Amino acid sequence: MRILITNIGELTTNAPGAGSAPGASPVPGVASVRGAGSVPGAGSVPEVSPVPGADSVPEALEGPDPCGTLHDAAVLIDGDRIVWVGSAAEAPDADETVDADGRAVIPGFVDSHSHIVFGGDRAAEFEARMQGQKYAAGGIRSTVAATRAATDDQLRARLRGFLDEMLAQGTTTVEIKSGYGLDVATEERLVRLAAEVTPEVTFLGAHVVPAEYADRADAYVDLVTGPMLDACAPHSRWIDVFCETGAFTVPQSRRVLEAGVARGLQPRVHASQLGPGEGVRLAVELGAASIDHGTYLTDDDVAALAGSDTVLTLLPGVEFSTRQPYPDARRLIDAGVTVAIACDTNPGSSFTSSMPFCIAVAVRDMRMTVAEAIHAATAGGAAALRRDDIGRIAPGMRADLVLLKSPSRVHLAYRPGVPLVEAVWKDGVRV
Ligand code: NIG
Ligand code: FE
Repeated sequence: MRILITNIGELTTNAPGAGSAPGASPVPGVASVRGAGSVPGAGSVPEVSPVPGADSVPEALEGPDPCGTLHDAAVLIDGDRIVWVGSAAEAPDADETVDADGRAVIPGFVDSHSHIVFGGDRAAEFEARMQGQKYAAGGIRSTVAATRAATDDQLRARLRGFLDEMLAQGTTTVEIKSGYGLDVATEERLVRLAAEVTPEVTFLGAHVVPAEYADRADAYVDLVTGPMLDACAPHSRWIDVFCETGAFTVPQSRRVLEAGVARGLQPRVHASQLGPGEGVRLAVELGAASIDHGTYLTDDDVAALAGSDTVLTLLPGVEFSTRQPYPDARRLIDAGVTVAIACDTNPGSSFTSSMPFCIAVAVRDMRMTVAEAIHAATAGGAAALRRDDIGRIAPGMRADLVLLKSPSRVHLAYRPGVPLVEAVWKDGVRV
């Protein structure tokens, strides 16, 4: 089944060079993500000829148009893949045609950081915070109690509700972390439930030290790196740790990450959310795919990131919901750091599932250009997950696309809070 989406007024391809010619020109290949490895569940990518010099997300960001914009364009989908991109005037025949009527099309959002398997919520904590109370890592423990008490079916129903909510807002790929179980049985349940809906599952047993291990953090790390890892690794692709005062020290974080790597998981790290620390440099040293938060970065952190393959994932919803200062994305991008934007959907620090909202905040308060923010929320997220089959609109990529109601992607930041998604295709299927 070949579906042609045509009459696209503004097409964000994220494909380097795609926007160089006036009008539209075919996008000749697929850019790969630096450091990309095999992706469980991602399937195979049809062979396409590589574009010389167009081989990484950082290079795409260096250009004047990180979004590889085409106008009066069309996209042909065949099955679950994009097979042709170019000028609407030269579009091939298809079984079905969708007229975009001059509106904008962007790649589906890649939300590379979420915690959406949990019980209960913390509305009272949020309300108290808005009246002056400070956010602290310890709040996680109240969600642990509610999560342990919930059945698999209750957690599954909630999880699927969040996914529907995300899809309706244009998110076609989501990473999901455990971390609200903090005992072997519940952590295993969380990664197992997450694996039902995404290949991007992260084992975060080292989210915080649970109450029953108070003052015995090292003994809890023994549990995480031993029986808990044994139970969770088969369902997971990633290993994560909250490396922060009030959670885990740098030596404890190193133990967790190295144990995960020894079991075949790939590292990603929560760091520098509540204050500066050495978590970013640990992440870079261990070749982590991403360090997430980075609210308090030192110049050494920025230099280390700029010289690495580690993506810095910004989480604007967290600063918004905790009233912490926004990190300066300009400082990072200008230094050459690869940046992603994600929602960090969780009941404590950021209970939004809206990538458009996060884009709007990143543009207003983190000083990103709209093009940089859209790129970070799509190709940036793909880089943070080391995926080379999503985050771009080019032949060979998964057919994950969003048709907006607006003529330009700028409206995503310009009209904050307004539902602007007209249609979403995931793996070539309109949802
Ligand atoms: O990414 N930083 C640690 N974990 C979550 C917050 C979890 C919570 O407060 O429940 C985060 O912000
Ligand atoms: Fe998080």
